[in-house]
Amino acid sequence: IPVDAFDLVIFGGTGDLARRKILPGLYRRLAAGQIPPEARIIGAARSDMDDAAYREMVSDALVDFLPKGELNDETRAQFLSLLSYVTIDAKGTDGWAELAGHMRDGVVSAFYFSVAPSLFGDLAQRLHEHGVADEGSRVVVEKPFGHDRASAKALNRDLAQHFDETQIYRIDHYLGKETVQNLMAVRFGNVLFEPLWNAQYVDHIQITVAETVGVGGRGSYYDKSGAMRDMVQNHLMQLLCLIAMEPPSRFDPDAVRDEKLKVIRALDPVEPHHIVRGQYDAGADTPSYRQDVEDPRSLTESFIALRTHISNWRWAGTPFYLRTGKRLKARTSEIAVVFKDAPHSIFEDSERTHRNILSIRLQPNEGMELGVTIKEPGPGGMRLIDVPLDMTFADALGPDADDVPDAYERLIMDVIRGNQTLFMRGDEVEAAWAWTDPLIEGWQRRGDVPKPYDVGSVGPDDALMLMHRDGRRWREIKI
Ligand code: BG6
Repeated sequence: IPVDAFDLVIFGGTGDLARRKILPGLYRRLAAGQIPPEARIIGAARSDMDDAAYREMVSDALVDFLPKGELNDETRAQFLSLLSYVTIDAKGTDGWAELAGHMRDGVVSAFYFSVAPSLFGDLAQRLHEHGVADEGSRVVVEKPFGHDRASAKALNRDLAQHFDETQIYRIDHYLGKETVQNLMAVRFGNVLFEPLWNAQYVDHIQITVAETVGVGGRGSYYDKSGAMRDMVQNHLMQLLCLIAMEPPSRFDPDAVRDEKLKVIRALDPVEPHHIVRGQYDAGADTPSYRQDVEDPRSLTESFIALRTHISNWRWAGTPFYLRTGKRLKARTSEIAVVFKDAPHSIFEDSERTHRNILSIRLQPNEGMELGVTIKEPGPGGMRLIDVPLDMTFADALGPDADDVPDAYERLIMDVIRGNQTLFMRGDEVEAAWAWTDPLIEGWQRRGDVPKPYDVGSVGPDDALMLMHRDGRRWREIKI
């Protein structure tokens, strides 16, 4: 179903995110028939260029960043015809009157701030001053949303001066991933799981986001952030919220976000001995973390594993283990809900434990798998084996699975539809920082040095110990 006609202004329209994700994403939605011909996309940035030069730049970006075979000449021409460009000074007056002239009445207007957060306040103010935005407009902001609670609060305050919370769309692209939403469908659309979804039946939950890439090229940003700020405070936190939250009364933005906020506020502080930080070493032909960030003494982590608890009735006693890192063995993201052992085994081969594990794979091969114990087929007596009940979306849905929009595409369409469910509310972001700030301050105060780990490994050994000490083990990192 096509969305309503819109004027979408992309500040930072010539930047990396715009070329890599936003514009190719919009192209794919146009190709899928979701963008009406009356839509307009306006790139706005500092560089001096005209519409034709911008179209050419975007055309090159489509070639570079769309999967091979997806670009066709007719759709490309149609897409480029939606584009125009305005040279703008985010901190001055140049270009604003021209931009105001591009905005039409009677269509949705949205402003994507694909720029450094230090410009959010300036843009919000100028959009207001020059009458470019009105009370129906939407603004989309990217992470990092602040560096700590105080800076996130300041950003919220700057935006709130000119926009109401219902107009602000804070992106966490993990919320746009297909499986993440499916997690809610599985939890709240079935009767099967929810009765077991608590400390009585769940032994522990583990969330892994493993990447094979290093931080090369983004070193100056990354070294000031580290895995905690770059991944845990936002992406892993959001996954944890969706796994742990109470059923919202409705699938509507505030009902969902109220429940997520309660989870964040119920998170216990993490004990220092339940945090393991790591830094990747050099590989055969890859630089070390410290070489990548060009600081031989950097103490920033490219890997983190931690154990936390949620202090509420549902989860008291169930640990949540989170880990994420760069230059690991495989690119894979998974949430595993590990259920407790059966209370009593009636079978003789009871020295092996058989556990039900629900694993939710975000990438690659999006899907879910439920590990169940069955009898090994054949005449060998009552021997038990664990087999997966597998629901890989590509298998179950056939060709339809190919048309799953990527995270950015879905989220941009949600902005146009005016649906904030998959976006973070200001109080949520501040609460997430309120949990991470003391942990970061703690290791900085202690002068904690990250443990080195090998490229292509599963992180430092101490991360394995974090689980082994509790008599548990991490799931394998594999594709
Ligand atoms: C970004 C982080 O938000 O997410 C990156 O800044 C990380 O460091 C990326 O690589 C991971 O996203 P995805 O969708 O590739 O898992």
